[in-house]
Amino acid sequence: TKGGFSSFMEKEIHDQPDAVRQTLLGRSDLNGNLTLDELRIDPEELKKVNKIIVLACGTAAYAGTVAKYAIENWCRIPTEVELAHEFRYRDPILDDNTLVVSISQSGETMDTLMAVRYAREQGAKTISICNTNGSTIPRESDAVLYTHAGPEIAVASTKAFLAQITAAYLLGLYLAQLRGNIFSGQIKDVLADLGKIPAKIQTILDGAGPLRELARSMANEQSILFLGRHVGYPVALEGALKLKEIAYIHAEGFAAGELKHGPIALIDEGKPVFVVVPSPRGRDSLHAKVVSNIQEVRARGARTLVIAEEGDEAVKAYAEHVFYVPETPTLLMPLLTTVPLQIFAAELAAAKGYDVDQPRNLAKSVTVE
Ligand code: F6R
Repeated sequence: TKGGFSSFMEKEIHDQPDAVRQTLLGRSDLNGNLTLDELRIDPEELKKVNKIIVLACGTAAYAGTVAKYAIENWCRIPTEVELAHEFRYRDPILDDNTLVVSISQSGETMDTLMAVRYAREQGAKTISICNTNGSTIPRESDAVLYTHAGPEIAVASTKAFLAQITAAYLLGLYLAQLRGNIFSGQIKDVLADLGKIPAKIQTILDGAGPLRELARSMANEQSILFLGRHVGYPVALEGALKLKEIAYIHAEGFAAGELKHGPIALIDEGKPVFVVVPSPRGRDSLHAKVVSNIQEVRARGARTLVIAEEGDEAVKAYAEHVFYVPETPTLLMPLLTTVPLQIFAAELAAAKGYDVDQPRNLAKSVTVE
């Protein structure tokens, strides 16, 4: 049931503190060491991995992009992300030291399944991050790391996305631990930060009133843009996808650095632009660059709708609206910054009178190629 919410999507957005909590549960011991028992691949084999390829479609592929940043940061293993349906057709280079990580909520997406089969045939090791017990992709993979988001009913993915990102962090930390890339104290710190995420998501959900009001006022917009850098980039892509899917508004996500290479020509008076800002406590240059991107679009007349970390005063001067999320390390920020964009899309689609759970032309599980 919808549990008193207006749609399954709203319910699932509100399920997210629990989806993250459940996905973290039971995966580390008292010493803060990760124990991923479901990963039935010989640890010695995983130590030999010299390349990781993440395969997925749609929202799951954006979770994969977040995974790339985290895995490369913690494990120092070159990691690429590819849309599963593009992968097979480019004659990819794989061998038995390649680890293929597929991400799929349903575990039945045909494009992803075919890519995993292909990777196995080439000798790669395959791990599936999946939300559906016993589904096809995990059955055909060497190992599985389940997300515990619970069943996702709304076609537009929300809680599965956050759970996928959470599982990908765990996988990255596990590989780093195994390979000795990271100190156990550092793993403990990240796990502690992850443990605080559910309460922080709850804070965002509880404070979403002004964001919902803004969404309702924007029901007649023709086009909305989303900018982000680093892990904020896949969040921008996800924010745009949610809006296209359920509100049928043209939306595009860009890497903020690409602006001057073309997209800035789209900016005119009154164009709404969401900007996902990294923590000001992180790498200085990253934060400063995004703030200057806000300034650039504002100077050309854009309405700047900014998602930033609590306490970030620097964004205020150039923002029409700022929606703050609680403090967290930059690498983990997608678990927070995605939430306002999901709420924005759901509220706007509802304001337009659309069926938020069953958008036109889409199916929950895409079992054809
Ligand atoms: C977007 C959405 C889709 C799915 C994609 C992959 O909201 O739900 O983009 O993410 O079709 O589906 P799974 O994860 O089941 O493989």
